[in-house]
Amino acid sequence: PYSEKSPYLPFGENKNASWYGKDILSVKQFDRSDLEYIFGVAHEMAEMVRRIGTFDLLKGKILANLFYEPSTRTSASFTAAMERLGGSVIPINEVRYSSVAKGESLPDTVRTLEAYADVIVLRHPEVGAAALAAKYARKPIINAGDGVGEHPTQALLDLFTIQEELGRVDHITVTMLGDLKYGRTVHSLARLLSLYNVKLNYVSPEILRMPPEIIAEIQATGTPQFEYTSLEPVLAETDVLYVTRVQKERFEDPQQYESVKDAYVITPEIMQAAKKTMILMHPLPRVGEIALEVDQDPRAAYFRQVEYGLYVRMALLAMVLGKA
Ligand code: CP
Repeated sequence: PYSEKSPYLPFGENKNASWYGKDILSVKQFDRSDLEYIFGVAHEMAEMVRRIGTFDLLKGKILANLFYEPSTRTSASFTAAMERLGGSVIPINEVRYSSVAKGESLPDTVRTLEAYADVIVLRHPEVGAAALAAKYARKPIINAGDGVGEHPTQALLDLFTIQEELGRVDHITVTMLGDLKYGRTVHSLARLLSLYNVKLNYVSPEILRMPPEIIAEIQATGTPQFEYTSLEPVLAETDVLYVTRVQKERFEDPQQYESVKDAYVITPEIMQAAKKTMILMHPLPRVGEIALEVDQDPRAAYFRQVEYGLYVRMALLAMVLGKA
């Protein structure tokens, strides 16, 4: 806990709150009651933003945004979340211009930033980087994506999107499509969904299948999982179609990327064959895997998904800083 990690206890927090001072590193930390709690706080945040826009729950608090990889949504939404809550942000969105470029290690960088900030949001290209940072930091670390590992805050906002859009998470069929090997968002989301009564379909090219260790992990929960190379056999039964970008930056062989980059494109014709109640999700950015014409379809939920992310990240910041 924070109180054991830091010699300097800030004023005004509820130090008995269960998420106070905790790191958020993996979705494996959460059970269903945690998710209900987070979504309840996210609802309150949405209502407060709608009513008054910005308020002072985290006034005086500072977030360090430390991004070793590009980001639009995660970085900007954590910034917006902190500012909506009355706090401020140290933005290190391009580590090339920080002392990382001089060879400073991750442990030294986070131990420096926590001297200035109350919480650190970290994106890094290596699996396990957030856990390593948390080992050294006394302040909470929030994993904003560690290589092909996890993206827990994205999975939380994805689940919140499903809950808000469909009104339930149980008794649904979720089809994940695209790059399931390198897509860290689907790794985290599949794990979270396995806490519910769902059926999971994985549609990908052979070389981009869901990693076997994640399939084994989910199998142990009893969640039914099925693998395909084509969307056609599962489209009609799908309640949530979760599309991912083929992650060009993770390929060692550019030719291999070229061979799969256009494997799937969601078009209005495909949407016509889907359930009227289906929602189409994407963590974004997209680079062609959903045709622009599909944006007009009310089932296209990806820009609403972006907004849900703001409220979930406001909730997480308030929780780890002892204000929720
Ligand atoms: N979904 C997501 O993580 O987007 P960014 O890479 O823009 O943060």
